[in-house]
Amino acid sequence: MKAVRVYEFGGLEALKYEEVTVPEPGEGEARVKIEAIGVNFIDIYHRIGRYQGKLPLTLGQEAAGVVDAIGPNVTDVKVGDRVAYASVQGSYAEYAIAPVWRLVPISVQVDSQHAAAVILQGMTAHYLTHSTYPLKTGDTALVHAAGGGTGQLLVQIAKRCGARVIGTVSTEEKATLAREAGADEVINYAQSDFETEVKRITDNKGVDVVYDSVGKDTFDKSLNCLRRRGYMVLYGQSSGSVPPVDPQTLNAKGSLFLTRPFLQHYTADRGEIFSRVNNLFQWIAAGELKVRIDKTFPLADVAEAHRYLEDRQSKGKIILIP
Ligand SMILES: NC(=O)c1ccc[n+]([C@@H]2O[C@H](COP(=O)([O-])OP(=O)(O)OC[C@H]3O[C@@H](n4cnc5c(N)ncnc54)[C@H](OP(=O)(O)O)[C@@H]3O)[C@@H](O)[C@H]2O)c1
Repeated sequence: MKAVRVYEFGGLEALKYEEVTVPEPGEGEARVKIEAIGVNFIDIYHRIGRYQGKLPLTLGQEAAGVVDAIGPNVTDVKVGDRVAYASVQGSYAEYAIAPVWRLVPISVQVDSQHAAAVILQGMTAHYLTHSTYPLKTGDTALVHAAGGGTGQLLVQIAKRCGARVIGTVSTEEKATLAREAGADEVINYAQSDFETEVKRITDNKGVDVVYDSVGKDTFDKSLNCLRRRGYMVLYGQSSGSVPPVDPQTLNAKGSLFLTRPFLQHYTADRGEIFSRVNNLFQWIAAGELKVRIDKTFPLADVAEAHRYLEDRQSKGKIILIP
């Protein structure tokens, strides 16, 4: 089978599309014949070595496909089941092994590409809005990169929680997408100072929560956008890592809360995964959650897909087809 592996951390040249042996499932595992693979920033971090996996490393954390073999003592899935999963290393391949407890059955209304598109970023948007800072009617949320893959899902889910949503974007095209997702206000942070704009929009009250996936470029000003005792939810770093923070800063800016959450800690068992994904699939089937696939690339063109995401072009989900 074909797979994309990394032997040395590095640039796009580190991506090797090559022939490897089809893996066999062990106890508690299934083999999935992959139909669609989700591309995420974390794959770039694994490629460049910001997150250091064991080399050689098959990239990818997210996919959808059909179970084609099961290991000993597996009863929760059977051969032929359509499934999707996230947070399991090795999905940039024609076949991958996954622990059965992480496999979610795909409902009939959702095709493989959309299942692969929503499982990681959708569960992220779900836990951020329902668990990290559970949004309620009357809250105001600031969502950075609101025209990106996670951003568009986050805006839609925040709106269904009853929140008022302010989104930031860097282009007019992304502004349109953020508005279509339901953002009440959209700020082009490449053109205006988002802190000034948020203070104007909220009459200097500040927002209840900031969901920040951008990191270095937005972190400091995001703290200034919060109300007293507001919640700073830093969940990514697409612009670079945030330097260390002095806890006294949180006191000085209004007894703020700061958290740096991670999907795996909010999808800790089968029950938690199912409850989030069942919500997502129900909303998709009802036409209440739109999953925008921005680009699909053949797996062999993985370097183009990584370049697209790194060049800040993504306007939704990027999918690889094996
Ligand atoms: N903690 C978690 O559980 C979790 C889960 C999912 C993702 N994440 C993290 O969230 C971040 C975003 O990842 P994603 O997969 O969600 O992608 P994404 O939503 O598609 O985000 C990409 C967007 O980030 C914005 N961005 C700002 N500065 C950028 C830069 N210098 N380079 C590239 N993009 C930049 C761009 O929007 P504008 O051009 O409009 O600024 C771009 O469209 C990553 O750091 C990822 O690791 C964390």
